[in-house]
Amino acid sequence: MNTAEKVYKQALDYALSKIEKNMEELNDSFPFVTVNGKWELCKEEDWDLEIFSDGYWCNGFWIGMLWLAYKVTKNNKFKRKAYELCKLIEPRKNSNKIHDLGFLFYPSFCVGYDITKDGYFKRVALTAADSLLSRFNDEIGAITVSGDLQESGLTAIDTMMNLPLLWWVYEKTGNQKYYDVAYKHAATTMQHFIREDGSTYHVIEFDLDTGQVKRKYTLQGYNDESCWSRGQGWGIYGFALAYKYAKEKEFLITVGRLANYYIANCLPNYVTYWDFNDPEIPNTIKDSSAAAITASGLVDLSNVEPDKTRAEKYEEMPYKILETLSKNYLADNSSQGILLHGCFDKTNNIATDSSLIFGNYYYMEALVKSNFGFKGKDRWRY
Ligand code: GLY
Repeated sequence: MNTAEKVYKQALDYALSKIEKNMEELNDSFPFVTVNGKWELCKEEDWDLEIFSDGYWCNGFWIGMLWLAYKVTKNNKFKRKAYELCKLIEPRKNSNKIHDLGFLFYPSFCVGYDITKDGYFKRVALTAADSLLSRFNDEIGAITVSGDLQESGLTAIDTMMNLPLLWWVYEKTGNQKYYDVAYKHAATTMQHFIREDGSTYHVIEFDLDTGQVKRKYTLQGYNDESCWSRGQGWGIYGFALAYKYAKEKEFLITVGRLANYYIANCLPNYVTYWDFNDPEIPNTIKDSSAAAITASGLVDLSNVEPDKTRAEKYEEMPYKILETLSKNYLADNSSQGILLHGCFDKTNNIATDSSLIFGNYYYMEALVKSNFGFKGKDRWRY
């Protein structure tokens, strides 16, 4: 085993031990960010009260980590807990109040089906996908984030990572309607959210009467013209998957532009500040979740990029990110989290230097998918 392989193997073992410990401590609660090393919890029974900036969109990620732990260890206790928690979030399959259905149901129910092949997960994922479809607005060609379906023209780069639910259901059912909405949403995002230099806007409000852009701005980034690093990560991963499923060349070009922006503007150790354009850099906070999301997205991109040279570049990058995260960003036992230095929301001053459950999830997903550095016959695909 070479040095990099040892780093990845140790990191995965460490993540698994933390998941096991958290599982005992958390019971039926869902962790979303750490405060002073302890998980803040979302009780699923309160989800209907959700407000925009809280953690209820995050409750699928902890389940996803349990599934990954089960996949790697085959230990049934992870599977049992994942089933239990899936039951708790299942009622949300019918809610189209917000666009977060992919964040909620992909790591829990889609990954759950892929691992267990239990039809229950597929049925629920299908219903959740229908709820997400109902947020699609034909006038603007996009899924709106929240608010009244007839009145809200609010769209966000984040939604690109709710599309995996639709791509997955399309793959499983062959029903074109899921593909069409995912494709149109990605095309609209490509048209309006990407700047000349490959950076991304966070939020766009459309005029529902004319279908025209009313305003481009940010809710979580430094300012309207800055590039919020997690949004860039959502875009990279979202367009990598859009290309994987639709094989639309423009999506491939787009994800390449986004990835190149990340690579050109990240730190020498491949992590990023919370916003690429914060004027306080280097005296500001980082967001490790942006790096973890990007790493996981680039693993998928490297698998579908037809150009060999570019594919190699995209394959190398996740290893570099994972190596940095594994060596310098893992928590010790004073924190319940795994990956430190994530920024949930600097603008609203929520958990600005914390462990974030989705940072933990994508870090682990990238470790598992990239097979923590093993090549050749030992390599297996997630
Ligand atoms: N809404 C997703 C995020 O805060 O990144």
